[in-house]
Amino acid sequence: MRSYASAVATKADRVGLGIDIGGTGVKAALVNLTTGALASKRVRVVTPKPSTPDAVAQTVKQVVDTIAVDNALPADLPVGAGLPGVIKRGQVMTAANIDKSWIGVSAAVLFSEALGRGVVAVNDADAAAIAEARLGAGKGATGTVLLLTIGTGIGSGLLVDGQLVPNTEFGHIEIKGRDAEHQLSGVARERRGLRWKAWAQEFNVYLAHLEGYVWPDLIILGGGVSKVLDKYREYLKSTAPIVPAQFLNVAGIIGAALAAADAHPIASRAARTTAAASAGASGAANR
Ligand code: BGC
Repeated sequence: MRSYASAVATKADRVGLGIDIGGTGVKAALVNLTTGALASKRVRVVTPKPSTPDAVAQTVKQVVDTIAVDNALPADLPVGAGLPGVIKRGQVMTAANIDKSWIGVSAAVLFSEALGRGVVAVNDADAAAIAEARLGAGKGATGTVLLLTIGTGIGSGLLVDGQLVPNTEFGHIEIKGRDAEHQLSGVARERRGLRWKAWAQEFNVYLAHLEGYVWPDLIILGGGVSKVLDKYREYLKSTAPIVPAQFLNVAGIIGAALAAADAHPIASRAARTTAAASAGASGAANR
């Protein structure tokens, strides 16, 4: 059987590097920007505790150095990093599930300095939404696509006719006076001891609010909770169809690489030959 990573680039495909910074792990891989397939092995290192900017930057460097052992990383390779907070022009504005000392720090500058190359920083759920809407569960969908990633927190990503509306942060809307994420994330469901039916019934109220705000044409559910959709699918109610994410735990990596290529289209064109050739060699090794 071919592994996922082996569905790799031809020389003509563009390649980028995606990094996903989460509360528990820092993950990265080369990504075929045309198909979304991973073009190297996925490297994961545990997120340092406390997850301060300098500590995370060192971990990011460690992860990228590990990828560089088997892969050429040309200077103009698009590199993107997704983080769990509002990101404005590369700067972290909020930090619900990472160390508060991130607030005000430019993740783009910090990671660029740590890696010695340009890095684009985006919100993690925005990254996942770009990946799913463009190449995954929402491929070909038109209109308004809403992705919700439900895990430690609730992240949201909104695309309108393929264009991202960044930093929607729908995980933090208030339902009955309480932060939705705090009541309905995967971690919150476990903390509250809610069975799937009870959770889905509350989640429906949340979904009804969101549908009232943005009237999505398609809702994609990602994150840990989406892996067991069969346990509660029958209880969910929505106007828009709900589908599970396709890329699951690599959506953030894929989307971060895509976001970086969007920001640096010329660099990504130049990067295609060397990185794709090297990724092909690495993919073969992963078979
Ligand atoms: C953060 C979002 C993030 C989401 C998922 C939330 O707590 O505010 O920025 O996208 O968690 O990680």
